[in-house]
Amino acid sequence: MKYTVRCWECGREVDDPFQYACPHCQGSLSVEMDLSHLEGTSAHDLRSRPLGVWRYGHFLPIGSEPVTLQEGGTPLYNCRKMAGEYGIRSLHVKFEGANPTGSFKDRGMTVGVTRALELGCKVVGCASTGNTSASLAAYAAKAGLKCVVLLPTGKVALGKLAQAMFFGAKVITVNGNFDDALRVVRELSQAGDLYMLNSVNPFRPEGQKTLAFEILDQLDLRLPDRIVYPVGNAANIWAGYKALREWHSLGWIDRLPMFTGVQAAGSAPLTRSFALGDRDFRPVEDPETIATAIRIGNPASGRKALRAVYDTGGVMTSVTDEEIVEAQFLLGRKEGVGVEPASAAALAGVRKLLDEGTVDRDERVVCVCTGHVLKDPDTVMANCGKLLRTEATVEAVRRAIDS
Ligand code: F0G
Repeated sequence: MKYTVRCWECGREVDDPFQYACPHCQGSLSVEMDLSHLEGTSAHDLRSRPLGVWRYGHFLPIGSEPVTLQEGGTPLYNCRKMAGEYGIRSLHVKFEGANPTGSFKDRGMTVGVTRALELGCKVVGCASTGNTSASLAAYAAKAGLKCVVLLPTGKVALGKLAQAMFFGAKVITVNGNFDDALRVVRELSQAGDLYMLNSVNPFRPEGQKTLAFEILDQLDLRLPDRIVYPVGNAANIWAGYKALREWHSLGWIDRLPMFTGVQAAGSAPLTRSFALGDRDFRPVEDPETIATAIRIGNPASGRKALRAVYDTGGVMTSVTDEEIVEAQFLLGRKEGVGVEPASAAALAGVRKLLDEGTVDRDERVVCVCTGHVLKDPDTVMANCGKLLRTEATVEAVRRAIDS
């Protein structure tokens, strides 16, 4: 695989693999793949490989044997009842909860942890709202690497915390939010304490590109009008855009869908700047939302995400916690698909944009549902009503059924 790591802002090449920002302008980094060997081919040429991250190895900056847990290859559900409920022509859900650790992060980690091995690193680490830490912990275990994760105290859903501890990571909670934890991990990585596998590491979004490739493959290359992502640190929506730009540059597709991002109302710096027509943003100081996965005030890839949205004619919007929970339960009870609150934000965003008239009822929309419902059992139980407990008799149980 031939590639160059460049500053996304000033375009300079960055050779040092342990830099996570441009030494000249502090801009964020990006991998530029040399795809010239694919000219004259088409997406159909990859079809003989099994669906999953490594089907798209030509688009990934890895030359060695990958550390893999067979990530990707997740279902794309055609949610007809949800579409009827929302009043839209077609609504698909890309269910990333079906990944090995229950979120889309595994797509980036198979690439990122393989890269760590290629570089001879011994310790990997990240800051996380939960899912990144769960994923990194699993892949580090598989690779035999020491793993350190920094989490915001008291704001990580139980399933994610349990996973990170279960897979043997050193789990440290810091008194502060995700943005504070990321600042500390950046400093630790610069001091050489660990190899950082947050999405500011440009190898992570490379793996996450495959989410968008799969959607197109699963739709037999009939492009949807719009792909909707929940947005936190803002790398995933940008990764999807980068992915389809690459296919577009090869002539594998003839246009891009509208990339649309949804933030939680209490942590929506990008939505605020989109409303002003800005390409930069001001951080939110005290982000808050029930969707703790996207409780982020200073998204590291915020400028990239805004580019993805503006360049494709998409939008950024935000939804309230009530709207998130409503969408989460509707998807569960209409379609049997269980996603965590952050993922449901994407669906709630579609409903809001339809109601506003921003999304046309004739569109074909794909929602990226990033994490499994079991990640956050507390939110589910808090919104499910009471358990029914009775004597162990047929009569008592019948009464409970009818109650
Ligand atoms: N959905 C879920 C379930 C997430 O865990 C995240 C991010 C996102 C959406 C947003 O993706 O950051 O690329 O915009 N979780 C990170 C973490 C921050 O630490 O697990 P993004």
